[in-house]
Amino acid sequence: MHEETKDITEIILKATALAREETNAEPEPEITKDVKWPIECTLGPGLEGAIVGETNVGYVNGSKGWLVYRGYDIFDLCAYSTFEEVSYLLLHGRMPTSQQLQVFKSKLHHYQHLNKTLRLLMGFQVEDMNAMAALRMGTNLMRQEFTYHDTEAGRPCTDDAISSDEDSIAMETKPTGEEHAVYEMKPQCGSTSSVIKHDLQDASGLEACYHLIAGVSTITAAISRIRSKRMPKEPHPDLSFAGNFLYMLTGNVPTPVEERVMDVALILHADHGMNASTFAAMVVASTLSDIYFSVGSGIAALNGPLHGGANEQVVRTLYDIGNEKKVKKWVKKAVSEKKKISGFGHRVYKAYDPRARILGPLAELLVRDNKDIEPVYRVAAALEKEVLASFGKEKKIFPNVDFYSGIVYSCLNVPPEIFTPIFAVSRVAGWTSRVLEYLQNNRIFRPRAIYTGEFNKKYSPIDERVD
Ligand code: ACO
Repeated sequence: MHEETKDITEIILKATALAREETNAEPEPEITKDVKWPIECTLGPGLEGAIVGETNVGYVNGSKGWLVYRGYDIFDLCAYSTFEEVSYLLLHGRMPTSQQLQVFKSKLHHYQHLNKTLRLLMGFQVEDMNAMAALRMGTNLMRQEFTYHDTEAGRPCTDDAISSDEDSIAMETKPTGEEHAVYEMKPQCGSTSSVIKHDLQDASGLEACYHLIAGVSTITAAISRIRSKRMPKEPHPDLSFAGNFLYMLTGNVPTPVEERVMDVALILHADHGMNASTFAAMVVASTLSDIYFSVGSGIAALNGPLHGGANEQVVRTLYDIGNEKKVKKWVKKAVSEKKKISGFGHRVYKAYDPRARILGPLAELLVRDNKDIEPVYRVAAALEKEVLASFGKEKKIFPNVDFYSGIVYSCLNVPPEIFTPIFAVSRVAGWTSRVLEYLQNNRIFRPRAIYTGEFNKKYSPIDERVD
Protein backbone atom coordinates (compact mmCIF):
# COMPACT_ATOMS: atom_id res chain seq x y z
CA MET A 1 0.00 0.00 0.00
CA HIS A 2 1.46 3.41 -0.98
CA GLU A 3 1.83 5.66 2.04
CA GLU A 4 0.32 8.78 0.41
CA THR A 5 -2.73 7.02 -0.97
CA LYS A 6 -3.33 4.53 1.80
CA ASP A 7 -6.39 6.47 3.05
CA ILE A 8 -8.00 5.81 -0.34
CA THR A 9 -7.29 2.08 -0.22
CA GLU A 10 -8.65 1.97 3.33
CA ILE A 11 -11.85 3.72 2.20
CA ILE A 12 -12.30 1.08 -0.52
CA LEU A 13 -11.66 -1.81 1.87
CA LYS A 14 -14.12 -0.35 4.38
CA ALA A 15 -16.77 0.09 1.67
CA THR A 16 -16.16 -3.51 0.59
CA ALA A 17 -16.70 -4.85 4.11
CA LEU A 18 -19.87 -2.79 4.55
CA ALA A 19 -21.30 -3.86 1.19
CA ARG A 20 -20.70 -7.54 1.95
CA GLU A 21 -22.21 -7.25 5.41
CA GLU A 22 -25.31 -5.32 4.31
CA THR A 23 -26.19 -7.49 1.32
CA ASN A 24 -25.32 -10.81 2.91
CA ALA A 25 -28.93 -11.83 3.32
CA GLU A 26 -30.02 -10.96 -0.23
CA PRO A 27 -30.70 -13.90 -2.57
CA GLU A 28 -27.78 -15.35 -4.50
CA PRO A 29 -27.91 -14.74 -8.26
CA GLU A 30 -28.86 -17.47 -10.67
CA ILE A 31 -25.76 -18.74 -12.41
CA THR A 32 -26.34 -19.24 -16.12
CA LYS A 33 -23.85 -21.10 -18.22
CA ASP A 34 -25.59 -22.93 -21.05
CA VAL A 35 -28.12 -20.71 -22.74
CA LYS A 36 -30.64 -22.02 -25.23
CA TRP A 37 -32.08 -19.48 -27.64
CA PRO A 38 -34.80 -18.31 -28.09
CA ILE A 39 -35.22 -17.23 -24.47
CA GLU A 40 -38.43 -16.39 -22.69
CA CYS A 41 -38.42 -13.26 -20.56
CA THR A 42 -40.94 -10.82 -19.16
CA LEU A 43 -40.68 -7.35 -20.64
CA GLY A 44 -41.55 -3.99 -19.16
CA PRO A 45 -41.55 -0.58 -20.81
CA GLY A 46 -38.04 0.70 -21.64
CA LEU A 47 -37.06 -2.92 -22.45
CA GLU A 48 -37.03 -3.66 -18.71
CA GLY A 49 -36.29 -7.36 -18.29
CA ALA A 50 -35.19 -7.84 -21.91
CA ILE A 51 -32.20 -10.10 -22.54
CA VAL A 52 -30.28 -9.00 -25.61
CA GLY A 53 -27.48 -11.54 -25.68
CA GLU A 54 -24.79 -13.38 -23.75
CA THR A 55 -21.68 -11.77 -22.38
CA ASN A 56 -18.49 -12.51 -20.49
CA VAL A 57 -17.57 -8.87 -20.07
CA GLY A 58 -19.39 -7.81 -16.94
CA TYR A 59 -22.18 -8.50 -14.51
CA VAL A 60 -24.42 -6.40 -12.27
CA ASN A 61 -26.48 -7.91 -9.46
CA GLY A 62 -29.03 -5.33 -8.39
CA SER A 63 -30.16 -6.89 -5.15
CA LYS A 64 -26.70 -7.75 -3.84
CA GLY A 65 -25.17 -4.52 -5.16
CA TRP A 66 -22.50 -6.46 -7.03
CA LEU A 67 -20.54 -5.19 -9.97
CA VAL A 68 -18.17 -7.63 -11.65
CA TYR A 69 -15.78 -7.12 -14.61
CA ARG A 70 -14.71 -10.40 -16.26
CA GLY A 71 -15.19 -12.26 -12.95
CA TYR A 72 -13.36 -9.72 -10.77
CA ASP A 73 -15.21 -7.83 -8.03
CA ILE A 74 -15.24 -4.05 -8.56
CA PHE A 75 -14.13 -3.48 -4.97
CA ASP A 76 -10.98 -5.57 -5.49
CA LEU A 77 -10.25 -3.87 -8.80
CA CYS A 78 -10.53 -0.44 -7.16
CA ALA A 79 -8.39 -1.46 -4.21
CA TYR A 80 -5.57 -3.15 -6.12
CA SER A 81 -5.72 -2.41 -9.85
CA THR A 82 -5.32 0.48 -12.30
CA PHE A 83 -7.46 1.76 -15.18
CA GLU A 84 -4.94 0.48 -17.72
CA GLU A 85 -5.12 -3.02 -16.24
CA VAL A 86 -8.92 -2.89 -16.08
CA SER A 87 -9.23 -1.71 -19.71
CA TYR A 88 -6.96 -4.53 -20.84
CA LEU A 89 -8.98 -6.97 -18.75
CA LEU A 90 -12.28 -5.81 -20.27
CA LEU A 91 -10.98 -5.90 -23.83
CA HIS A 92 -8.95 -9.12 -23.66
CA GLY A 93 -10.87 -11.08 -21.04
CA ARG A 94 -7.83 -11.66 -18.83
CA MET A 95 -5.44 -9.69 -16.64
CA PRO A 96 -2.27 -8.66 -18.49
CA THR A 97 1.19 -9.93 -17.63
CA SER A 98 3.63 -7.16 -16.82
CA GLN A 99 5.02 -7.30 -20.37
CA GLN A 100 1.54 -7.18 -21.92
CA LEU A 101 0.65 -4.27 -19.67
CA GLN A 102 3.79 -2.43 -20.70
CA VAL A 103 2.96 -2.83 -24.39
CA PHE A 104 -0.66 -1.80 -23.79
CA LYS A 105 0.38 1.31 -21.85
CA SER A 106 2.79 2.40 -24.55
CA LYS A 107 0.08 1.92 -27.20
CA LEU A 108 -2.33 4.05 -25.18
CA HIS A 109 0.35 6.65 -24.75
CA HIS A 110 1.08 6.64 -28.47
CA TYR A 111 -2.59 7.05 -29.35
CA GLN A 112 -3.04 9.86 -26.83
CA HIS A 113 -1.09 12.02 -29.28
CA LEU A 114 -3.90 13.30 -31.48
CA ASN A 115 -2.40 16.44 -32.90
CA LYS A 116 -4.13 16.29 -36.26
CA THR A 117 -7.54 15.46 -34.76
CA LEU A 118 -7.17 18.32 -32.29
CA ARG A 119 -6.26 20.77 -35.04
CA LEU A 120 -9.38 19.69 -36.93
CA LEU A 121 -11.47 19.97 -33.76
CA MET A 122 -10.20 23.49 -33.15
CA GLY A 123 -11.60 24.47 -36.55
CA PHE A 124 -15.02 24.36 -34.84
CA GLN A 125 -16.28 26.64 -32.10
CA VAL A 126 -15.70 24.08 -29.39
CA GLU A 127 -15.79 26.77 -26.71
CA ASP A 128 -19.48 27.45 -27.45
CA MET A 129 -20.48 23.84 -27.91
CA ASN A 130 -21.97 21.34 -25.48
CA ALA A 131 -18.90 19.41 -24.30
CA MET A 132 -20.47 16.02 -25.06
CA ALA A 133 -21.40 17.18 -28.57
CA ALA A 134 -17.79 18.29 -29.08
CA LEU A 135 -16.55 14.95 -27.77
CA ARG A 136 -18.84 13.09 -30.13
CA MET A 137 -17.55 15.16 -33.01
CA GLY A 138 -14.00 14.49 -31.86
CA THR A 139 -14.51 10.73 -32.22
CA ASN A 140 -15.70 11.29 -35.79
CA LEU A 141 -12.57 13.28 -36.50
CA MET A 142 -10.45 10.49 -35.01
CA ARG A 143 -12.15 8.09 -37.38
CA GLN A 144 -11.40 10.36 -40.29
CA GLU A 145 -7.74 10.48 -39.34
CA PHE A 146 -7.23 6.75 -39.17
CA THR A 147 -9.62 4.83 -41.37
CA TYR A 148 -10.04 3.99 -45.00
CA HIS A 149 -13.71 3.05 -44.79
CA ASP A 150 -14.69 6.03 -46.91
CA THR A 151 -13.56 5.50 -50.47
CA GLU A 152 -10.96 7.73 -52.02
CA ALA A 153 -13.41 8.59 -54.83
CA GLY A 154 -15.85 10.04 -52.32
CA ARG A 155 -13.28 12.33 -50.79
CA PRO A 156 -13.64 15.99 -51.79
CA CYS A 157 -10.76 17.53 -53.69
CA THR A 158 -8.52 19.56 -51.41
CA ASP A 159 -6.64 21.40 -54.17
CA ASP A 160 -8.88 24.45 -54.27
CA ALA A 161 -10.43 24.24 -50.81
CA ILE A 162 -10.58 27.29 -48.55
CA SER A 163 -7.19 26.45 -47.17
CA SER A 164 -4.52 24.30 -48.72
CA ASP A 165 -3.39 23.35 -45.22
CA GLU A 166 -5.62 20.37 -44.55
CA ASP A 167 -4.75 20.49 -40.87
CA SER A 168 -5.86 24.02 -40.26
CA ILE A 169 -9.49 23.81 -41.33
CA ALA A 170 -12.17 21.33 -40.51
CA MET A 171 -13.98 21.47 -43.85
CA GLU A 172 -12.47 20.51 -47.18
CA THR A 173 -15.06 22.57 -49.01
CA LYS A 174 -15.20 25.87 -50.85
CA PRO A 175 -17.83 28.58 -51.32
CA THR A 176 -19.50 28.54 -54.74
CA GLY A 177 -20.04 32.30 -54.88
CA GLU A 178 -23.81 32.09 -54.38
CA GLU A 179 -25.51 35.05 -52.73
CA HIS A 180 -25.72 33.13 -49.49
CA ALA A 181 -22.51 31.19 -49.07
CA VAL A 182 -23.06 27.62 -50.08
CA TYR A 183 -20.35 25.08 -49.55
CA GLU A 184 -19.81 22.69 -52.38
CA MET A 185 -18.25 19.28 -52.10
CA LYS A 186 -16.34 18.29 -55.22
CA PRO A 187 -16.48 14.53 -55.61
CA GLN A 188 -14.15 12.48 -57.83
CA CYS A 189 -10.92 14.34 -58.15
CA GLY A 190 -8.52 11.45 -58.55
CA SER A 191 -6.28 10.10 -55.88
CA THR A 192 -4.85 13.33 -54.51
CA SER A 193 -5.49 12.25 -50.94
CA SER A 194 -2.83 13.34 -48.51
CA VAL A 195 -3.86 10.70 -45.96
CA ILE A 196 -0.82 9.11 -44.42
CA LYS A 197 -0.90 5.32 -44.52
CA HIS A 198 -1.56 3.98 -41.07
CA ASP A 199 -1.74 0.55 -39.52
CA LEU A 200 -5.25 1.19 -38.27
CA GLN A 201 -7.18 0.00 -41.28
CA ASP A 202 -9.78 -2.03 -39.48
CA ALA A 203 -12.12 0.46 -37.87
CA SER A 204 -13.82 -2.26 -35.82
CA GLY A 205 -10.71 -4.04 -34.57
CA LEU A 206 -8.77 -4.13 -31.34
CA GLU A 207 -6.36 -1.43 -32.47
CA ALA A 208 -9.28 0.95 -33.06
CA CYS A 209 -10.44 0.21 -29.48
CA TYR A 210 -7.00 1.17 -28.12
CA HIS A 211 -7.11 4.28 -30.28
CA LEU A 212 -10.52 5.25 -28.89
CA ILE A 213 -9.73 4.52 -25.22
CA ALA A 214 -6.64 6.72 -25.48
CA GLY A 215 -8.09 9.37 -27.78
CA VAL A 216 -11.32 10.08 -25.88
CA SER A 217 -9.18 11.12 -22.89
CA THR A 218 -7.09 13.50 -25.01
CA ILE A 219 -10.15 15.02 -26.69
CA THR A 220 -12.00 15.48 -23.39
CA ALA A 221 -9.01 17.22 -21.83
CA ALA A 222 -8.57 19.40 -24.93
CA ILE A 223 -12.27 20.39 -24.95
CA SER A 224 -12.01 21.44 -21.33
CA ARG A 225 -8.94 23.55 -22.01
CA ILE A 226 -10.30 25.14 -25.20
CA ARG A 227 -13.50 26.07 -23.34
CA SER A 228 -11.42 27.96 -20.81
CA LYS A 229 -9.32 29.63 -23.53
CA ARG A 230 -6.22 27.49 -23.02
CA MET A 231 -4.36 25.44 -25.62
CA PRO A 232 -4.54 21.62 -25.44
CA LYS A 233 -1.64 19.95 -23.67
CA GLU A 234 0.57 17.20 -25.05
CA PRO A 235 0.39 13.98 -23.00
CA HIS A 236 3.10 13.60 -20.37
CA PRO A 237 5.48 10.71 -21.10
CA ASP A 238 5.94 9.59 -17.48
CA LEU A 239 2.44 9.55 -16.04
CA SER A 240 -0.20 6.84 -15.69
CA PHE A 241 -3.37 7.05 -17.78
CA ALA A 242 -5.28 8.72 -14.93
CA GLY A 243 -2.39 11.01 -14.08
CA ASN A 244 -1.92 11.96 -17.69
CA PHE A 245 -5.61 12.65 -18.15
CA LEU A 246 -5.55 15.04 -15.18
CA TYR A 247 -2.33 16.58 -16.48
CA MET A 248 -3.85 17.17 -19.94
CA LEU A 249 -6.95 18.65 -18.26
CA THR A 250 -5.39 20.97 -15.72
CA GLY A 251 -1.86 21.47 -17.04
CA ASN A 252 -0.40 20.40 -13.68
CA VAL A 253 1.22 17.12 -12.71
CA PRO A 254 -1.31 15.72 -10.21
CA THR A 255 -0.46 14.73 -6.65
CA PRO A 256 -0.44 10.97 -5.91
CA VAL A 257 -3.80 11.38 -4.16
CA GLU A 258 -5.39 13.17 -7.13
CA GLU A 259 -4.00 10.59 -9.54
CA ARG A 260 -5.26 7.69 -7.44
CA VAL A 261 -8.72 9.25 -7.01
CA MET A 262 -9.05 9.73 -10.78
CA ASP A 263 -7.81 6.19 -11.35
CA VAL A 264 -10.46 4.77 -8.99
CA ALA A 265 -13.16 6.92 -10.62
CA LEU A 266 -12.16 5.63 -14.06
CA ILE A 267 -12.18 2.00 -12.86
CA LEU A 268 -15.63 2.47 -11.31
CA HIS A 269 -17.20 3.82 -14.51
CA ALA A 270 -15.60 1.45 -17.04
CA ASP A 271 -18.47 -0.99 -17.56
CA HIS A 272 -21.98 -1.49 -16.29
CA GLY A 273 -24.12 -4.15 -17.86
CA MET A 274 -26.54 -3.47 -20.67
CA ASN A 275 -27.09 0.21 -19.81
CA ALA A 276 -28.53 2.69 -22.34
CA SER A 277 -25.24 3.93 -23.81
CA THR A 278 -23.74 0.44 -24.07
CA PHE A 279 -26.87 -0.79 -25.77
CA ALA A 280 -26.82 2.21 -28.13
CA ALA A 281 -23.19 1.45 -29.04
CA MET A 282 -24.04 -2.21 -29.63
CA VAL A 283 -27.09 -1.48 -31.76
CA VAL A 284 -24.96 0.66 -34.07
CA ALA A 285 -22.21 -1.98 -34.19
CA SER A 286 -24.73 -4.69 -35.02
CA THR A 287 -25.44 -3.01 -38.37
CA LEU A 288 -21.71 -3.50 -39.17
CA SER A 289 -21.12 0.19 -38.94
CA ASP A 290 -17.71 0.73 -37.30
CA ILE A 291 -16.56 1.15 -33.72
CA TYR A 292 -16.04 4.92 -34.03
CA PHE A 293 -19.72 5.33 -34.92
CA SER A 294 -20.59 2.97 -32.06
CA VAL A 295 -18.65 5.00 -29.53
CA GLY A 296 -20.21 8.19 -30.93
CA SER A 297 -23.66 6.71 -30.25
CA GLY A 298 -22.60 5.68 -26.76
CA ILE A 299 -21.51 9.26 -26.08
CA ALA A 300 -24.83 10.60 -27.39
CA ALA A 301 -26.84 8.27 -25.14
CA LEU A 302 -24.64 8.90 -22.12
CA ASN A 303 -25.25 12.63 -22.40
CA GLY A 304 -28.87 12.44 -21.18
CA PRO A 305 -29.76 13.51 -17.61
CA LEU A 306 -31.36 10.11 -16.93
CA HIS A 307 -28.00 8.47 -17.64
CA GLY A 308 -24.45 9.89 -17.38
CA GLY A 309 -25.65 13.48 -17.64
CA ALA A 310 -27.06 13.15 -14.11
CA ASN A 311 -23.67 13.89 -12.50
CA GLU A 312 -23.69 17.47 -13.75
CA GLN A 313 -27.33 17.87 -12.79
CA VAL A 314 -26.64 16.63 -9.23
CA VAL A 315 -24.09 19.36 -8.55
CA ARG A 316 -26.48 21.97 -9.97
CA THR A 317 -29.20 20.68 -7.63
CA LEU A 318 -26.87 20.79 -4.62
CA TYR A 319 -25.96 24.40 -5.37
CA ASP A 320 -29.67 25.22 -5.87
CA ILE A 321 -30.52 23.76 -2.47
CA GLY A 322 -27.63 25.82 -1.14
CA ASN A 323 -27.68 24.86 2.50
CA GLU A 324 -28.04 21.60 4.42
CA LYS A 325 -30.76 23.18 6.56
CA LYS A 326 -32.96 23.59 3.47
CA VAL A 327 -32.73 19.94 2.46
CA LYS A 328 -35.78 18.63 4.35
CA LYS A 329 -38.12 21.23 2.86
CA TRP A 330 -36.60 20.78 -0.62
CA VAL A 331 -37.16 16.99 -0.52
CA LYS A 332 -40.74 17.42 0.70
CA LYS A 333 -41.47 19.71 -2.25
CA ALA A 334 -39.73 17.38 -4.71
CA VAL A 335 -41.80 14.44 -3.46
CA SER A 336 -45.06 16.40 -3.66
CA GLU A 337 -44.21 17.40 -7.24
CA LYS A 338 -43.26 13.77 -8.05
CA LYS A 339 -39.84 14.98 -9.14
CA LYS A 340 -37.03 12.51 -9.85
CA ILE A 341 -34.05 13.55 -7.79
CA SER A 342 -30.85 13.38 -9.83
CA GLY A 343 -28.26 10.94 -8.53
CA PHE A 344 -30.83 8.61 -6.95
CA GLY A 345 -32.47 5.46 -8.22
CA HIS A 346 -31.44 2.87 -10.74
CA ARG A 347 -33.15 0.47 -13.10
CA VAL A 348 -31.09 -2.45 -11.76
CA TYR A 349 -29.86 -1.61 -8.25
CA LYS A 350 -32.33 -2.15 -5.50
CA ALA A 351 -29.41 -2.03 -3.04
CA TYR A 352 -26.83 0.71 -2.51
CA ASP A 353 -24.87 1.22 -5.74
CA PRO A 354 -21.35 -0.18 -5.02
CA ARG A 355 -19.80 2.68 -6.99
CA ALA A 356 -21.50 5.28 -4.76
CA ARG A 357 -20.28 3.35 -1.71
CA ILE A 358 -16.74 4.27 -2.78
CA LEU A 359 -17.33 7.70 -4.32
CA GLY A 360 -19.25 9.02 -1.26
CA PRO A 361 -16.41 8.46 1.24
CA LEU A 362 -13.87 9.61 -1.37
CA ALA A 363 -15.77 12.89 -1.70
CA GLU A 364 -15.79 13.18 2.10
CA LEU A 365 -12.03 12.65 2.19
CA LEU A 366 -11.31 15.22 -0.52
CA VAL A 367 -13.50 18.02 0.87
CA ARG A 368 -11.46 17.98 4.10
CA ASP A 369 -8.84 19.98 2.17
CA ASN A 370 -11.31 21.91 0.07
CA LYS A 371 -13.26 24.45 2.05
CA ASP A 372 -15.11 25.75 -1.07
CA ILE A 373 -16.63 22.39 -1.90
CA GLU A 374 -17.16 21.19 1.67
CA PRO A 375 -20.56 22.95 2.07
CA VAL A 376 -21.73 21.27 -1.16
CA TYR A 377 -20.69 17.89 0.22
CA ARG A 378 -22.61 18.62 3.42
CA VAL A 379 -25.75 19.36 1.38
CA ALA A 380 -25.22 16.07 -0.50
CA ALA A 381 -24.80 14.06 2.71
CA ALA A 382 -27.93 15.66 4.16
CA LEU A 383 -29.85 15.01 0.93
CA GLU A 384 -28.87 11.34 0.96
CA LYS A 385 -30.00 11.01 4.58
CA GLU A 386 -33.31 12.74 3.91
CA VAL A 387 -34.13 10.82 0.72
CA LEU A 388 -33.37 7.49 2.40
CA ALA A 389 -35.44 8.39 5.46
CA SER A 390 -38.46 9.82 3.64
CA PHE A 391 -38.91 7.26 0.82
CA GLY A 392 -35.60 5.80 -0.35
CA LYS A 393 -35.30 2.85 2.02
CA GLU A 394 -38.91 1.89 1.50
CA LYS A 395 -38.77 2.16 -2.32
CA LYS A 396 -35.17 0.89 -2.51
CA ILE A 397 -33.92 4.10 -4.06
CA PHE A 398 -30.31 4.79 -3.09
CA PRO A 399 -27.61 7.15 -4.36
CA ASN A 400 -26.23 5.99 -7.70
CA VAL A 401 -22.78 6.45 -9.27
CA ASP A 402 -23.61 9.99 -10.34
CA PHE A 403 -24.49 11.29 -6.89
CA TYR A 404 -21.01 11.88 -5.48
CA SER A 405 -18.85 11.80 -8.63
CA GLY A 406 -19.37 15.51 -9.39
CA ILE A 407 -18.14 16.50 -5.92
CA VAL A 408 -15.08 14.29 -6.39
CA TYR A 409 -14.31 15.86 -9.79
CA SER A 410 -14.90 19.38 -8.43
CA CYS A 411 -12.22 18.69 -5.79
CA LEU A 412 -9.87 17.77 -8.67
CA ASN A 413 -10.57 21.18 -10.28
CA VAL A 414 -12.67 19.76 -13.11
CA PRO A 415 -15.44 22.09 -14.34
CA PRO A 416 -19.03 20.70 -14.26
CA GLU A 417 -19.47 20.48 -18.04
CA ILE A 418 -16.60 17.95 -18.13
CA PHE A 419 -18.15 15.56 -15.55
CA THR A 420 -20.12 13.60 -18.16
CA PRO A 421 -17.24 13.53 -20.68
CA ILE A 422 -15.09 11.97 -17.90
CA PHE A 423 -17.72 9.24 -17.63
CA ALA A 424 -17.20 8.64 -21.36
CA VAL A 425 -13.39 8.58 -20.98
CA SER A 426 -13.82 5.55 -18.76
CA ARG A 427 -16.89 3.90 -20.31
CA VAL A 428 -15.29 3.74 -23.76
CA ALA A 429 -13.43 0.69 -22.36
CA GLY A 430 -16.75 -1.04 -21.65
CA TRP A 431 -18.41 0.04 -24.90
CA THR A 432 -15.56 -1.20 -27.06
CA SER A 433 -15.18 -4.48 -25.12
CA ARG A 434 -18.86 -5.30 -25.44
CA VAL A 435 -18.99 -4.32 -29.10
CA LEU A 436 -15.97 -6.49 -29.93
CA GLU A 437 -17.56 -9.39 -28.07
CA TYR A 438 -20.91 -8.96 -29.78
CA LEU A 439 -19.38 -8.76 -33.25
CA GLN A 440 -17.90 -12.23 -32.82
CA ASN A 441 -21.41 -13.59 -33.13
CA ASN A 442 -23.26 -10.65 -34.59
CA ARG A 443 -26.95 -10.45 -35.31
CA ILE A 444 -28.51 -7.10 -36.19
CA PHE A 445 -30.72 -5.70 -33.40
CA ARG A 446 -34.29 -5.42 -34.57
CA PRO A 447 -36.93 -5.39 -31.80
CA ARG A 448 -40.57 -4.59 -32.40
CA ALA A 449 -43.09 -2.14 -30.99
CA ILE A 450 -46.76 -2.83 -30.34
CA TYR A 451 -48.76 -0.72 -32.77
CA THR A 452 -51.61 0.98 -30.92
CA GLY A 453 -52.62 3.34 -33.73
CA GLU A 454 -55.53 3.26 -36.14
CA PHE A 455 -56.06 1.54 -39.51
CA ASN A 456 -58.01 2.27 -42.69
CA LYS A 457 -58.01 6.05 -42.38
CA LYS A 458 -59.15 7.90 -45.47
CA TYR A 459 -56.64 10.24 -47.13
CA SER A 460 -58.01 13.77 -47.58
CA PRO A 461 -56.46 16.49 -49.79
CA ILE A 462 -54.62 19.24 -47.85
CA ASP A 463 -57.20 22.00 -48.43
CA GLU A 464 -59.96 19.83 -46.97
CA ARG A 465 -58.17 19.22 -43.67
CA VAL A 466 -59.22 20.96 -40.48
CA ASP A 467 -57.01 21.36 -37.43
N1 ACO B 1 -36.15 10.34 -7.27
C1 ACO B 1 -37.38 10.08 -6.79
N2 ACO B 1 -38.07 8.96 -7.08
C2 ACO B 1 -37.50 8.09 -7.91
C3 ACO B 1 -36.24 8.30 -8.46
C4 ACO B 1 -35.55 9.48 -8.11
N3 ACO B 1 -34.34 9.75 -8.59
N4 ACO B 1 -35.91 7.28 -9.25
C5 ACO B 1 -36.95 6.43 -9.22
N5 ACO B 1 -37.92 6.92 -8.41
C6 ACO B 1 -39.21 6.29 -8.11
C7 ACO B 1 -40.18 6.54 -9.24
O1 ACO B 1 -40.91 7.72 -9.04
C8 ACO B 1 -41.04 5.30 -9.17
O2 ACO B 1 -41.92 5.44 -8.08
P1 ACO B 1 -43.42 4.83 -8.15
O3 ACO B 1 -43.24 3.35 -8.30
O4 ACO B 1 -44.04 5.25 -6.87
O5 ACO B 1 -44.04 5.46 -9.38
C9 ACO B 1 -40.04 4.20 -8.80
O6 ACO B 1 -39.00 4.88 -8.10
C10 ACO B 1 -39.46 3.48 -10.01
O7 ACO B 1 -38.92 4.45 -10.88
P2 ACO B 1 -38.79 4.34 -12.46
O8 ACO B 1 -38.74 5.70 -13.06
O9 ACO B 1 -39.79 3.37 -12.98
O10 ACO B 1 -37.36 3.70 -12.59
P3 ACO B 1 -36.57 3.50 -13.95
O11 ACO B 1 -35.87 2.21 -13.80
O12 ACO B 1 -37.42 3.67 -15.15
O13 ACO B 1 -35.53 4.71 -13.95
C11 ACO B 1 -33.68 6.05 -13.47
C12 ACO B 1 -34.24 4.63 -13.47
C13 ACO B 1 -33.84 6.67 -14.87
C14 ACO B 1 -32.19 5.99 -13.17
C15 ACO B 1 -34.43 6.88 -12.41
O14 ACO B 1 -34.18 6.34 -11.14
C16 ACO B 1 -34.05 8.36 -12.44
O15 ACO B 1 -34.61 9.10 -13.24
N6 ACO B 1 -33.06 8.80 -11.59
C17 ACO B 1 -32.61 10.15 -11.62
C18 ACO B 1 -31.60 10.37 -12.75
C19 ACO B 1 -30.29 9.69 -12.47
O16 ACO B 1 -29.72 9.81 -11.39
N7 ACO B 1 -29.75 9.00 -13.49
C20 ACO B 1 -28.46 8.32 -13.39
C21 ACO B 1 -28.65 6.85 -13.24
S1 ACO B 1 -27.10 6.01 -13.10
C22 ACO B 1 -26.51 6.03 -14.68
O17 ACO B 1 -27.21 5.99 -15.64
C23 ACO B 1 -25.06 6.13 -14.85
